Parts: sequence; C-alpha cells; structure tokens
Amino acid sequence: MPILDATDTHIALAAQRLHEGALVAFPTETVYGLGANACDNSAVAKIYAAKNRPQFNPLISHYASADAVFDDIAYEQTEGNETAQILAHHFWPGPMTLVLERPAKCRISQLASAGLSSVAVRVPNHPVALKLLSQCPFPVVAPSANPSGKISPSCAEHVEAAMSDRLEIILDGGWCNAGLESTVIDCRDPDNIMMLRPGPVTKSDIEQVLARPVILPQSDSDAPVSPGQLASHYAPNAAVALEVTTPPSGAVYISFGIANTDNPLHLSLSEAGDLEEAAANLFRCLHQADALGCNLIAVSPIPQTGLGRAINDRLRRAAAPR
Ligand code: TXA
Ligand code: MG
Repeated sequence: MPILDATDTHIALAAQRLHEGALVAFPTETVYGLGANACDNSAVAKIYAAKNRPQFNPLISHYASADAVFDDIAYEQTEGNETAQILAHHFWPGPMTLVLERPAKCRISQLASAGLSSVAVRVPNHPVALKLLSQCPFPVVAPSANPSGKISPSCAEHVEAAMSDRLEIILDGGWCNAGLESTVIDCRDPDNIMMLRPGPVTKSDIEQVLARPVILPQSDSDAPVSPGQLASHYAPNAAVALEVTTPPSGAVYISFGIANTDNPLHLSLSEAGDLEEAAANLFRCLHQADALGCNLIAVSPIPQTGLGRAINDRLRRAAAPR
C-alpha cells in the first residue's frame, strides 16, 4: 500500500526518496501532484513514462517559497520582471503558476521544459506540500498525479486507483480544497500577460492586482505556447454531455444550483450554486460518476463568470471527442 499518512516521519521519508530519484505523490491545494526531483533527468523521465505523457508537454517546478524561486531563477530577466514579482508576492503560496524565461544556466532538467525556452514555477499553498518542499534542496516537478488525459486526482485514493503501481509513496493529506489545477500565467512579456490555463486565481483577480488586461489565448490553435491544453483531457470512461437541464434516464446527472434528489444517479457540484464549492467538487464528482459505471455523464450549465471559466474549461475538455 503506497498511501502513507502525512506525518513528519513520512514527509521526511518522501523527501529522502525524492532525493534518491523516486516518484512521490503529494497533496497540494489544487490537485495531488506526482513529484520528482526536477534536477534529476532520469527521475523526470520516469514521470513522463508513469503518466504516459507526451514529451512535448512541459512540467511545473514546485518550490517552498517565492524567495526560493527567485534565488534559483535569479537571473536578469526576473529581477527586471516586475510583473512576475508582483504576481508572486500577491498570489504565492497559492494556485498560480508563472511561466518565465529559462535562464541560460538553469539546474531544472531540460526535459521538464520540453524543449521550450521557458520554465513554469509555482509555490503551492498546502502545509504538507510546503513541508515536503522545504526539505528538498531542489525544485520538485509535479504534474497532476493521473495518467495523461484522464481525470485529475483530488484525494489520495484517486491517485492510488490510477497510479499505485507506478510510484513509491502517496502522502495522504485529505481532500484538495481548490480542486482545480493552478492558473497558468505567461508573464514573460509585461505588455502581453497571457492566461494559458484558467484556474482558481481568476482573470479579474489578476487584472485587479496588475491594473492591466490579461489576454486569453484565442483558441486551442494557440497550442504551441500552451502545450498542455489539449482538446481532450480530464476524460472519464463515460461520455460527457454539457449544458443539460433534463438528463436522459440511465445517465448520471451532475447538477449545479439544484437541490440533490434521492436519485443515486444525481450528484451535485453545489446545491447553493456556489462556484468555489463546485470547483472543489468537480473532479470528485467525475470520479464518482465513473465509479457508478454509467455510459453518459450529463452536466448542468455552469455560468461562465469568475471561477466558472475554469470549471467550464475542464468540462469542455472532459466532453471533447477523444
Ligand atoms: O495545480 C497544478 O498546477 C498541479 C499541481 C500538482 O501543482 N499541477 C499540474 O501540472 O496541473 P500539469 O502537468 O498537469 O499541468 C501543467 C500545465 C500544462 O498545461 C503544461 O503544458 C503547462 O502547465 N506548462 C508547464 N510548463 C510550461 C511552459 N514552460 N510553458 C507553457 N506552459 C507550460
Ligand atoms: Mg494535469
């Protein structure tokens, strides 16, 4: 059984095993990550193999603090990149990833950058993740701990069910609060701040802090700058139908803003119509719907405002042709 309670002893063991090149899953506030030493090429290669992840899709390096990030990527561009500094100090630790210029001298494995001239970095806001990272004298790459293209994990059991034969330790820190992966922001060009992936930190959160507009990639044809944003992703075994107000019989219905009924096939993202609660429940409901063994998952309309943008992004990809 790879699941271990996140005690101090187990966290220290996990840090040791990361140091030795093993894969360790750990909780963050967004989803569980599959961690490896970012400076160890063969450990990073193991991540791509374990997830069956396309080599062109780069990884996020995780650090214990913003200072650790800027010490590591302490290069001219970043010191001069006021936008990155402002965002880091406002939103870290937290569910935001920054894409920065990759410095000429950089200890993060080239594999993690997937051949791009950039690096993605983040400081997660979870006590277990922060304790683990503070015991690692290296950044930790961590994609979501699911096979590529499948539903992301929001608890240790989701990781175990999908990945237990491919990693060594799963640190159990309970449910992830935010429930959706971090917002990815490319801030290399201060005049063109781009949101590559919507997430818990919303477009307007960022615009308020920067007092400047944030650009959304026009479509998935912007894929080269945002290699992980594939049309089909987060795919349950069942087919997914969106914007459904009257579910067909036999389908699992995932509703929003509607009281749950006694029907065991009716799951609710948030009876109160609360987007934060819905985001936290999204992957859990998709996993639960699949476990019910249905052929179709029908989902209520979700408003395209604030966090709804990130929820709808995940749902569109879950429903996309595979
Ligand atoms: O919340 C999260 O970000 C979670 C937790 C574990 O931290 N991690 C996560 O990693 O979602 P992953 O690998 O599932 O998604 C990383 C996303 C992908 O869409 C990837 O293409 C993008 O970040 N990305 C990574 N490095 C990039 C880079 N240099 N340029 C552009 N996009 C990058
Ligand atoms: Mg992922």
